[in-house]
Amino acid sequence: MNFKLLKPLGFILTFILVLNSCKTEQKQPRSIQRGKLADSIMVVSAREEASRIGAEILKQGGNAFDALIGVDMALNVAYPFAGSLGGGGFMVYRKANGEIGSIDYREKAPIAATHDMYLDENGDAIASLSREGALAVGVPGTIAGMFAIHEKLGSMPMAEILEPVIALAEKGYVVTENQWNRYRNYAAVFDSINGMETLYSVGFRESDSLKVKAGDTIKNPVLAATLRRIAQNGKSEFYEGETAQKLVNFMQKHGGIITLEDLKNYEAVWRRPIVSSYKNLKIIGMPPPSSGGVCLAQIFKMIEPYKLSTYGHNSLKSIQVITEAERRAYADRSFFLGDPDFNDIPIETLISTEYATERMENFSFKQATPSSEVEHGVIPGYESMETTHFSIVDQYGNAVALTTTLNGAYGSKLYADELGFFLNNEMDDFSVKPGVPNMFGLIGAAANKIEPQKRMLSSMTPTIVEKDGKLWMTVGTPGGSTIITSVLQTILNVADFEMGMQEAVDAPRFHHQWLPDVVTFEPNTFGKSLLDSLAAKGYQIRQENSVILGKVDGVLVLPDGTLEGGADRRGDDTAVGY
Ligand code: GLY
Repeated sequence: MNFKLLKPLGFILTFILVLNSCKTEQKQPRSIQRGKLADSIMVVSAREEASRIGAEILKQGGNAFDALIGVDMALNVAYPFAGSLGGGGFMVYRKANGEIGSIDYREKAPIAATHDMYLDENGDAIASLSREGALAVGVPGTIAGMFAIHEKLGSMPMAEILEPVIALAEKGYVVTENQWNRYRNYAAVFDSINGMETLYSVGFRESDSLKVKAGDTIKNPVLAATLRRIAQNGKSEFYEGETAQKLVNFMQKHGGIITLEDLKNYEAVWRRPIVSSYKNLKIIGMPPPSSGGVCLAQIFKMIEPYKLSTYGHNSLKSIQVITEAERRAYADRSFFLGDPDFNDIPIETLISTEYATERMENFSFKQATPSSEVEHGVIPGYESMETTHFSIVDQYGNAVALTTTLNGAYGSKLYADELGFFLNNEMDDFSVKPGVPNMFGLIGAAANKIEPQKRMLSSMTPTIVEKDGKLWMTVGTPGGSTIITSVLQTILNVADFEMGMQEAVDAPRFHHQWLPDVVTFEPNTFGKSLLDSLAAKGYQIRQENSVILGKVDGVLVLPDGTLEGGADRRGDDTAVGY
């Protein structure tokens, strides 16, 4: 035997063994359970009727902007919980040629609004005033938004877009189990605010049963008539015409302060999106008066240095990093953010890497940072789920992310019976009094105090994501203060945890918003030992059966160009694609 050959042979054998062991340790790609797949068209919204109307508009040759008007208006019919003819919203878009933009048609405070309009004689906040009834209503922006989008980006006549929506309002929609449960929850409030004679006064009758049941069809001919007038007369119908007059009369009858002048003055505003990055992704988000784009960018920047994919999805370390970043971003939100037409907001600094690094300097895996020790950052020279979102990608390559709201469920609960829609309670998104939480527990400062004609700060986060310069995802969700963190986790689920779009929207979520200093977890989805480990590090855990964190709808473009729709399992959301 030639012993000289044994040594190199040993090396070769060891090398082969190491190679083999590497092979067996190599991570196998996850097999992904995909949602709805389609070649060229995808519409994902809170109701099947709305998604179908959007997809049909696209099949007839319309573009994503025509489709979004159809979907938005159809949600007014089939999803009155949040369909926002009486409210407002935001839209972020990316055209096939890469051009990006966003529009703000957020509600505004009426001219007669005052900073202390929700305070009693002792200066204490009266929560019900900013949440229910006519005083809670901000000047609606949705119709102005739809017409501005149509004028700049649409391709089909408005009357043609609205035709199937008017037909839906006349023929009616079928009430789902989820919807029936909501009507039931709110029946008594509807009755006390609107009386017993309106379409949505579903109060207890003599028979002690609800008028509406799951499976029933609800027709709304009054809304059909309103939409027909809008189709005929355009934007001015809502802001100056018969609809405006009816709305103002109705508001005044119920003790509201919105006038014809408020309506006439309302304009939607095109704004430059917030553009930031996370690893190889370009995140295109909504700027103020939404806090969504800024907070999302801040959180991404704060978590970027950490290896989330190595820590694992919803692992102890991932939850810690994300929670601590959320805590710091929400502390900044409450101090710096408000209507940009009334405040100078240091956006560039807030979303910079340097600022994010500074904010995370005191983070440690050993222990939670109590929110009492986290204030807004120091910048020199500076001091319900009840919304709805839809995502569309069209056959031309245009993408839209649109989030729209009445604020609370059915907004102020005030139903304009002669017009066929609910009115928002968006005034509660202002900081009614510094330090007093709104319905989402959010606390605001001077930047978001009530001023005439000012837009209230929002958390809505319609977002488009590019990868390697190409459209990759359009995504968003309802959920009040939890919107930002749900959008964040959905993007991370695909980017870092190898999920598909449907899996990413369905995955269990958690949320932290600085104050109150609690981490909220969706029920029955996070293990006891994980929650115990977090509690041992000083995190306060909240887990209640009723908690749902968002209802995310998104579209992902797969490497071969196929579209995957993700329609959240938490609602009746539906993806329709072709
Ligand atoms: N009304 C919820 C939001 O705009 O954040």
